[in-house]
Amino acid sequence: MENLVEDAKRILNLNWKDGFTIPTNKLYPFQWNWDSGFTSIGHSHFDLDFAIRELQSLFSGQWENGMLPHIIFHSENEKTYFPNFEFWNSNVNLGAPQKPKSSGITQPAVHGFVLENLLEKFPDDEKLIAFVKDIFPKVVKSHRFLYTYRDPKREGLMFIFHPWESGRDNSPLWDESLDRIVINPDELPKYERRDTSIAPSDERPTSYEYDRYVYLLQLGKKNKYDEQGIFEESPFLVQDTLMNAALIKSNQSLINIGKRFGLDIGELEEWQQQSVPRFQEKLWNTDLQTFTPFDIRGGHHISFKEIGGLSALYAEIPTQEQAKQLNDYLSSLHERGFYICPSFDVDSPLFDSKRYWRGPIWPQMNWMIYHGLNKYDFDKTAEIVKSDLIELVSMHGYYEYFESQKSLAKNMTSGYGGGDFSWTAACTLDLIKT
Ligand code: SER
Repeated sequence: MENLVEDAKRILNLNWKDGFTIPTNKLYPFQWNWDSGFTSIGHSHFDLDFAIRELQSLFSGQWENGMLPHIIFHSENEKTYFPNFEFWNSNVNLGAPQKPKSSGITQPAVHGFVLENLLEKFPDDEKLIAFVKDIFPKVVKSHRFLYTYRDPKREGLMFIFHPWESGRDNSPLWDESLDRIVINPDELPKYERRDTSIAPSDERPTSYEYDRYVYLLQLGKKNKYDEQGIFEESPFLVQDTLMNAALIKSNQSLINIGKRFGLDIGELEEWQQQSVPRFQEKLWNTDLQTFTPFDIRGGHHISFKEIGGLSALYAEIPTQEQAKQLNDYLSSLHERGFYICPSFDVDSPLFDSKRYWRGPIWPQMNWMIYHGLNKYDFDKTAEIVKSDLIELVSMHGYYEYFESQKSLAKNMTSGYGGGDFSWTAACTLDLIKT
C-alpha cells in the first residue's frame, strides 16, 4: 500500500501544471471538468492548496450563462489533442471567456460533492472555508445553467446533447441516438483524430462514432452552445442517469454546506424537491430493475444495464428495495468472475471489455459506487468494489481504465487507455485512505 500511495503522489505531481492537473500526458493535455473534481480530492491528501487551486482554475473557465465547460484549454500550444480550442470556437457564445479558451459542452456536476468531501477532511481549515464560501455561488450557478438551459420543460431532469457530456463517450447506450445521424461527407468538416495515434485504437471509440461526435459538436456550435435550437434539432437528446445523479448528489452537498455557513439554499432545495422523486419514478426501469437514461428524441428508456444506473446509489436516490436490486446485481457479477463494476452489461452482445465505455472498469465510478453502497449498508459489496480497484491498480499500474474479466486481466501486464492517470491515482489513493 505504501508503494501505491507514493506512486499516486508521483502521478499527481507529474500531471500538475502549475495551477491545474492534466488527466494524462498527450492523450488529454488540458484540464478536464469532472477529472479535476476527483483530482482535487487526490491532491488534498498531500497539499490542500493544490486541491483548492485545481478547482479555482477550472472555474476560471466558467461561462456567463453558468456553464462549466468540459475542457479548459489553459495552453493553446498543445497539439496532441483533437478537437482543440479552435475547432470548438466557443467564443461564438458571447458569454464564453476569451481566456482561458474552452469547449462548448459540459460534464457531470461533481464539484458540489467534491467541496463537501474536502470539508469533511478539513472541517476547520480557514483557507478552505473561505474558498468554499467564495466558490459556492459559482457552483450553484453551474447547476442553474443545467436546470435552465437543459430542462426546458421544467421536469427536474437535465438533458445532454453530446455523448462526451455524459463522460461515458462510446457507451452502447448512445448507439441508437447516434445511428439517427446520417453523415453527409461534404458537410462534415475535415478533421484528424489524435487519440488513436497515442492509445491503441481497439481501446478507443470508432471512427463511425467520432464522425457523429463531430456532427453534434457542429450542431452545438451552430446554436452558440446554449440556444433553444439544440433542444429542437439535436438527434441526440438524453436525460442521463449519471449526469442527473451527480447533479442531485451535488445539490445535496451544497445544501449541507449552505446550512453550515448560512448561505442561500432556497433554489437548491427547490431543485432537489423536484429532481429526486422525478429521477426515482421516471428513470427506474422495472424490466431491468435498475435506473436507465431516457431518450427524449426517441421517447423511451434506453434499456441497458450499465454503470450510470448504479451511480444513483451515491446520490441516495433508490428506495431500500431498489438499492437491494442494484447490490444483488453487483454481487452476482462478482460471483461470476468479473471485477466490479464493469461499465456495461456483461451479458449483452454489445459488451466489449476492452473498448472505453463498452465494458471496462473505471476508477472514478468505483469511487462513487463504493460510497453509495456504504450509504445503504451494503458494506460487503462496497469492500469488493474498493479492493477490486486496488487489485487492478496493483497489478497493472495507474491506467485510465481496466479489463473487467478476471480471467483476462490476470494474464495482462497493463490497463487500457492512458497511463499515469490522474483520477485513477486520486480515487485509488482516497479509497486506500478511507
Ligand atoms: N473523453 C473525450 C475524449 O476522449 C472528451 O472528453 O477526448
